[in-house]
Amino acid sequence: MTPKARFLMAVLAVTVFAGLAGLYFMGTGGVSGRGPAGETGIIQGSGTPSIGGPFTLVDHTGKTVTERDFLGKFMLIYFGFTYCPDVCPTELQIMAAALQSLGPKAEQIQPVFISVDPERDTPDVLATYVKQFDPRFIGLTGTVEQVAAVSKAYRVFFRKAKDESSSADYSVDHSSIIYLMDREGKFLVFFGPGTSPDEVARKIEPYLGQ
Ligand code: NI
Repeated sequence: MTPKARFLMAVLAVTVFAGLAGLYFMGTGGVSGRGPAGETGIIQGSGTPSIGGPFTLVDHTGKTVTERDFLGKFMLIYFGFTYCPDVCPTELQIMAAALQSLGPKAEQIQPVFISVDPERDTPDVLATYVKQFDPRFIGLTGTVEQVAAVSKAYRVFFRKAKDESSSADYSVDHSSIIYLMDREGKFLVFFGPGTSPDEVARKIEPYLGQ
């Protein structure tokens, strides 16, 4: 990602947080968070913004999966693409480190990487990629339409961009947010770019069973 693109993504990320924080101020009740500029947020109870929902995608083994395949487990989700030079690897490492520090409790969590670049991120490409971070990761891709639909459901923005700094045909600008979903697929909390693994683990742990 070029510096300019990274700046744009930062602006977009802040916009997303502001949107979530906006709900905080709508007085819908049951909402808590750190406020507009916070890096993490928790939104519960009535008035929960719709983040997430049904999807149909293809996992890194080539199997078609839906949100129902993940019921019963917490999902820790990140959207990105395997050609991403820096942001995605950083966030996936943060997820992996957070799981590591949760120890056996992390068995309750399914880490998921959803590609926003389905044309290049085939199941095979994803299989090799996600295993570099943690063998527990599941990589998801799909048709362009399927990926657009799941991204919309999770309020993830992405668009192809020219990448002068690399030999690849294009880069993909995208929002960088880690989502924690509960055992029923409902949104619990998000983590903004650069949240430390310790903080991610600390914020996840209270939701987990023993
Ligand atoms: Ni990325």
